[in-house]
Amino acid sequence: MTRRLRTGVLISGRGSNMSALIEAAGRPDFAAEIVLVLSDWPDAAGLVAARAAGVTAKAIDYRCFSAREAFETELHGQLAGAGIELVCLAGFMRILSPKLVERWSGRILNIHPSLLPELRGLHTHERALAEGRREHGCTVHFVSAELDAGPIVAQARVPVLPGDDADTLASRVLHEEHRIYPLALEAVARKLLAAERPAI
Ligand code: GRF
Repeated sequence: MTRRLRTGVLISGRGSNMSALIEAAGRPDFAAEIVLVLSDWPDAAGLVAARAAGVTAKAIDYRCFSAREAFETELHGQLAGAGIELVCLAGFMRILSPKLVERWSGRILNIHPSLLPELRGLHTHERALAEGRREHGCTVHFVSAELDAGPIVAQARVPVLPGDDADTLASRVLHEEHRIYPLALEAVARKLLAAERPAI
C-alpha cells in the first residue's frame, strides 16, 4: 500500500474544516491520512465528530497549564508521539510560539477566512462588510512566526452580495474553505512525500 503522510488536525470548536479533511482523506488515493485530532478545549464539538469518524481525538485543556510553553510541550509531545508529519490548524484559536512554529517549519498549515494578505486576524467577515469590500474569500497558508503571514498554498474568492450579513458571508466563505483545504493538504502532502524519494 502506498505510504500516506501522517497528519494531525488542531481544533478549538465545531471542526467543520476538520470534518472536510477527514472525509477527503477517507479516499484511499489521498496523499495524507488524518490520524489524530487535538483540541485545546475539551468541549469542542469537533472532538465528537472526529471520534464518530473513527479518528483518535484528545483534548489538551490549555487551562490546565500554567504557561504557553508547558501547553506547547504537551502539544508537541502528543504530535511527535503519534508520528505526525504534517499539522493542519482548523479553527485552532491559540497563537503558536515562534519556537513551536520553528520546530514544525514547513509542516503546519492553517486556513484563514480572508484573502490574505488582506484582513489578517479576527472578525474578517464583519470587517469585509464594514469596509464595503465587493470580494472576500479564504486562504490556506503555511504557518510562520508572524500571524496569518506565511506562504500561501491556495485561495478561493467569493462575492460579497447586497444584503449580506456576517453570517451569510461566513457561510459562503466556509463552503469554499471545505473545498480548498483538502486540495491544499493533498498538494502539500504529495510534495512532502515526493521529496522523500531519491532522484534516479
Ligand atoms: C473557519 O472559518 C476557519 O477559517 C477559521 O476558523 C473557522 C473554523 O471553523 N480559522 P470550523 O471549526 O472548521 O467549522
